[in-house]
Amino acid sequence: KTIESLGDLKGKRVLVRSDFNVPLDADKNITDDGRIQAALPTLTTLLDAGAKVIVTAHLGRPKGQVNPDYSLAPVAARLAEVTGVKVTLAKDTVGESARAAVAAMSEGEIVLLENVRFNAAETSKDDAERAAFAAELAALADVFVSDGFGVVHRKQASVYDVATILPAAAGLLVRKEIESLSRAVTNPERPYTVVLGGSKVSDKLGVIANLLSKADRLLIGGGMAYTFLAAHGHEVGTSLLEKDQIDTVKGYLATAKANGVELLLPVDTVVAPAFAADAPATVVAADAIPADQMGLDIGPKTAALYAEAISTSKTVVWNGPMGVFEFEAFAAGTKAVAKAMSESDAFTVIGGGDSAAAVRTLGFDESTFSHISTGGGASLELLEGKVLPGVSVLEG
Ligand code: 3PG
Repeated sequence: KTIESLGDLKGKRVLVRSDFNVPLDADKNITDDGRIQAALPTLTTLLDAGAKVIVTAHLGRPKGQVNPDYSLAPVAARLAEVTGVKVTLAKDTVGESARAAVAAMSEGEIVLLENVRFNAAETSKDDAERAAFAAELAALADVFVSDGFGVVHRKQASVYDVATILPAAAGLLVRKEIESLSRAVTNPERPYTVVLGGSKVSDKLGVIANLLSKADRLLIGGGMAYTFLAAHGHEVGTSLLEKDQIDTVKGYLATAKANGVELLLPVDTVVAPAFAADAPATVVAADAIPADQMGLDIGPKTAALYAEAISTSKTVVWNGPMGVFEFEAFAAGTKAVAKAMSESDAFTVIGGGDSAAAVRTLGFDESTFSHISTGGGASLELLEGKVLPGVSVLEG
């Protein structure tokens, strides 16, 4: 259901679930406001319609405890800057301070409710406990707009339960994310290539298993590549290695072969004696990693192979950096993948989290990619073929 399905919103209290889980530095400065920028289309649509906009969001995982380190105060300040309207931060998510802030607000203003995860009921596994908390949240508003794409895979009170109480609709960000990711996942133009990186295979097991029957090519990089190389029988030195996943990975290699999926692994790798920005980097073949060195990026031959595979694809989805891109000496592999995607005419999707941050910090023009997702876990679960509770609840 769309925002229009909620009717005339002038003077109405609209509760919006946004994902403002943004990275902060030690001084509580927001280091990447991508998720705040991505929330603007929905927020300005509602403000322009004369709604009273009440936003609920989480920051980090404060585990149901009030903790000033996880306050949404920096988000409230940035939100006021980027929207140009009055933003009031209510001290609590529900209760007297929330009710008072909403009662005092005018049309075209925003009340941001304090971190919803300060309340243990938000993430409770007990349906009744979550529902009771959702009812309190719902009582603050007339209608609900779900726009926190990054959190729609969570069956949590402010994402799922509240949508069963109030008239509910998907916001513009959630719609755009689902449309773009579904285009890649459900009906991809082929060849369909998926680039997977990041540190752990164990985070991507469901995704890999699903893609082995969907994708034409799977390109593996990042820390997880070393478990694949070990499954091939190579020594990986002191690289990240999940020994308990080697048998699973061997199974993937066999399934890829049986299904005719091209599974590409690094043929060379950048190694160093330590995980440090200034560690001396050398390039070695993937089957010749010295015992005292760790792989921290894919090598130049691998980067060229992967760029070639990307340039001959019609759909490319990328999740997870190819190396430790935060350190200049180990950023080349991630840069090469980003560059090949940005230059390609294919439908290109970057799936959230670290790869989206990589593209921004490495200075790529975001408009050269078809879609950069704001969701980490949520986009991975879509790639896994899972039904997301925060989305299915809006379809009912
Ligand atoms: C994210 O950062 O991926 C989302 O905000 C979800 O956060 P969570 O994994 O703590 O639920």
